[in-house]
Amino acid sequence: MPRERFGRDHAFLPREFLLSFEEITQLARVFAGLGVEKIRLTGGEPLLRKDAHKLVAMLAEIPGLELTLTTNAALLSRQAQALKDAGLHRITISLDSLDEKVFRQMSDTDFALREVLEGIEAAEAAGFTQLKINMVVKRGVNDDGILDMARHFRHSGHVLRFIEYMDVGETNRWRMDEVLSAQEIIARVDAEFPLEVLDAHYPGEVAKRWRYKDGAGEIGVIASVTQTFCHECTRLRLSPEGKLFTCLFATQGHDLMTRLRGVNGKQGDSPEQLAAWIASIWADRSDRYSELRSAGLAPEGDKIEMSYIGG
Ligand SMILES: C[S@@+](CC[C@H](N)C(=O)[O-])C[C@H]1O[C@@H](n2cnc3c(N)ncnc32)[C@H](O)[C@@H]1O
Repeated sequence: MPRERFGRDHAFLPREFLLSFEEITQLARVFAGLGVEKIRLTGGEPLLRKDAHKLVAMLAEIPGLELTLTTNAALLSRQAQALKDAGLHRITISLDSLDEKVFRQMSDTDFALREVLEGIEAAEAAGFTQLKINMVVKRGVNDDGILDMARHFRHSGHVLRFIEYMDVGETNRWRMDEVLSAQEIIARVDAEFPLEVLDAHYPGEVAKRWRYKDGAGEIGVIASVTQTFCHECTRLRLSPEGKLFTCLFATQGHDLMTRLRGVNGKQGDSPEQLAAWIASIWADRSDRYSELRSAGLAPEGDKIEMSYIGG
């Protein structure tokens, strides 16, 4: 969470305002019925939710879903095995630097880099293979660590992904000159470790894939600022309070919780009614914030913080 906005005395929402595991699972079934193939638990920090592995186990009962999780890994070493046993398929870990000071500066956290590295080891030991390691690159802050990160994860079997620093939320006071373009990132890595481009796994994959010519593995770049991909985006986000967001840069969501639970004595919607409503929101969406920003047409309005809407 952005420290300055929430401070240390942040009031947590009472539990009844949050979707329960049963409700999340109920909704996941509706989404799966509409053709959703992959669910990612993100945040905020998903492993802060008590018994997160129990939610994974419930979701794992829905046939045909790929289950993934994005985490800062601070709590992963204690939970990796339970998550694996519960049926989680893949893990993405955020790690912006291998230098302790820069790591803490980028993530604005008090936990140690060592804990993330232990989290990675625990995930490996639990049987997770080909982890994705996300490094957000901010010019002048951690860009001098790009090659350190590349070197560290070569030959590891994991996929290091460099992410262009984005203007999500409002508190990071983003500036375009802090963005290091994917093109520049690839050029820097390629100069040290020659690369060749790989095909996408599927249409709409957000990361562009590259591999080391010497066979040391794969990397990716997510060029969400300089090569926007709104036109192929297939993501829908569900917040802890049951709001649906059709764009990472949304300023408001659609209230699914009330439809699910009902209000003022009115019964909640049936799965069929929920599916029809979700489908209509999906069909009517028109967000394409990143493309508009590139064209100098970014709309006004406070964007939701990344810590709320989920990366
Ligand atoms: C917001 S985090 C949420 C999940 C979890 N707490 C974590 O740290 O991985 C999801 C991803 O968004 C990335 N991210 C955060 N702020 C970003 C920004 N301004 N631009 C690009 N990516 C960002 C993070 O590095 C992380 O990989």
